[in-house]
Parts: sequence; structure tokens; C-alpha cells
Amino acid sequence: MKKITIAVDGYSSCGKSTMAKALARKLGYIYIDTGAMYRAVTLFCMDNGILQGDKADTERLEKELDKIQIEFKTLPGESTPLVYLNGKCVEKEIRSMQVSEKVSIISAIPSVREAMVKLQRRMGDRKGVIMDGRDIGTTVFPDAELKIFVTASPEIRARRRLDELSAKGSSVTYEEVLRNVQERDYMDCHRAVSPLRKADDAITLDNSEMTIGQQDEWLMAQYRKATAKNR
Ligand code: DC
Repeated sequence: MKKITIAVDGYSSCGKSTMAKALARKLGYIYIDTGAMYRAVTLFCMDNGILQGDKADTERLEKELDKIQIEFKTLPGESTPLVYLNGKCVEKEIRSMQVSEKVSIISAIPSVREAMVKLQRRMGDRKGVIMDGRDIGTTVFPDAELKIFVTASPEIRARRRLDELSAKGSSVTYEEVLRNVQERDYMDCHRAVSPLRKADDAITLDNSEMTIGQQDEWLMAQYRKATAKNR
């Protein structure tokens, strides 16, 4: 069967990566979490004094951009790729609230977006890829054969994110997580370069009232339709 490109965009914490990962596993496709890439750049900036409070030293960041090496590696026996920053696995660090609170600042910088989009296009150039993010269907792969735009209410997304963070031992509150979700929604939708926007040819999925199983089935049905069209 001809391999296609699948773009999954949408708001933060609405289950994009869970559904994209499950479909990639079923189809034997490569899964790329582009949010993890922006998170890794943010961690680099925090660790190297490029980000002080809410202020990023853009000039220095631009000079150091080519020193930031981001890779995904899947360990033997595992199915989920882990993100590596300059050779070190940073999967845990990039999911912290500290990084979540700063990632919108870094991901709004045009030179950072340009570098990440270039890398994402290279990672997906052979098709057979599912990429999740905010601008995959609009900017990274505007010709993707299947585009999904995922949404759910902020309260439901905050609850899901809180459950995830609590399971990892974090002691954040529901209010903190909800505020972070709402702030990131605002910044993602209002930044000048590649704001979060549904591509005209994307299919919307509101999964507020859906189980993970129902969502996986729905996505598989969309995949079948898209491949039937692109035979
Ligand atoms: O998917 P996520 O919540 O891990 O993404 C983290 C942040 O990265 C999110 O707040 C916006 C940004 N992002 C982006 O600007 N473009 C992408 N393609 C993916 C994520």
C-alpha cells in the first residue's frame, strides 16, 4: 500500500500524541512529536542562560541554533521514540511544568520555527510518517494526504494533563495546569509566525466525550478513506 503523510494538529493536551502514536504503531509509520522538538530547544535555552525569566536572548540563540541537535531514538523492545538533545535523552525534563511554562516564548521565535520546520521536513520526506504539532497541515506538510485537527474543552484537557503529571509524581494543581493550557492556547493561536489554525482541508475531531478506543477507531477509519482516495 502506498505510504502517505498524516498531519495531526490541534490544541495542547488534547490527546494528539496518544492517537498519533497508536496509529503509527499499527501502520508501521514513523511518529514525530514536533512539540517535543520545541520543548527540547526551550530546555536548551533554560540550561544555557539564553532564557532569563520570560526574556529570550534571540541574538545568542540564533548563533547557537546549529549547536542544538535534536533526534528521536526508539530503544530496542520499545515502540515510542524518545527525544534526545545533543546526545542526551531529555524525555522527562521536557515534559515538566517549567518547560511547559516557557515553550510558547521559544516556539514563537521565527528563526527557531524555520530551523524546526526544515528538520521536520527532512524527517518526513520519505512519507509513511505521522507528525503531530500546531502547523503540520498548514506549514510543514501542506500537501499531506490526511490532515486531522483535534480539539477538546480546556477543562477536559487540563484534567487529562493533570492526571499525566500526577502519575509522574508532580504535585501541580488543577488550577495551575488549566491556566497553562489556556495561556498556551492563546499564544499558539496569536503568534505572528505559523499560528495554530485549522487547515482548510483538515478534518476536525472534538474528542471531549470520546474514549481512547473510540478515537483510535475514528482515526483508523479516516486513514482508510484517505488511502482509498490516494491509491
Ligand atoms: O504539543 P506540545 O504541547 O508538547 O507542544 C509544546 C509547545 O510547542 C506548544 O505550546 C506550542 C509549540 N509547538 C509549536 O509551536 N508548533 C508545533 N508544530 C508543535 C508545538
